Amino acid sequence: MKRILLACVAIAAAMSTARADAPPPDERQAVAMSEADRAWVLRAMRSHVEALRDITAGIAAGDLARSGDAAAAMGTDAMKADTTRPAGLRAKLPPAWITLVLAMHREFDGIRDGVQAREDATQLMARLGRVTTQCAACHAAYRIQVAP
Ligand code: HEC
Repeated sequence: MKRILLACVAIAAAMSTARADAPPPDERQAVAMSEADRAWVLRAMRSHVEALRDITAGIAAGDLARSGDAAAAMGTDAMKADTTRPAGLRAKLPPAWITLVLAMHREFDGIRDGVQAREDATQLMARLGRVTTQCAACHAAYRIQVAP
């Protein structure tokens, strides 16, 4: 009896180790789009990182013009003026995705406005925190799935 019990404990321990090694399930919603759409989205994403780099480096160096320019380049007006977006991409995106995109662009507008209003670094960092909250929320919710 005792031996059986020990065997059960050993099996249970082995199973729990196996579970710990497995990657956690990906619960993000798949958004289907073409390979070309995906390439455009990912390129835009990389430019977001570059903007965050320029905004933070500008704040740190006291070069607020750099921060303001980088924020404006990611703002609502720049998004509207962008003619490179693949036709039909918007129709493939869930409404909540679009809400997050628009909120993100507005937060970038806020950084540009904060720079123009000569806000201090703490206020600008709070704005950066709000931008990156949008990045993180969308990344937690969605992944891209290439579909023809
Ligand atoms: C509305 C949704 C959304 C928002 C907002 C968003 N992202 Fe993304 N991002 C995605 C998705 C979806 C992917 C692809 C994830 C996947 O398929 O695994 C992605 C991928 C990326 C990648 C990978 C790029 C590559 O070449 O592989 C980077 C970097 C990135 N995002 C940065 C950012 C940053 C920084 C922000 C905010 C300033 C941001 N994203 C805002 C949805 C979003």
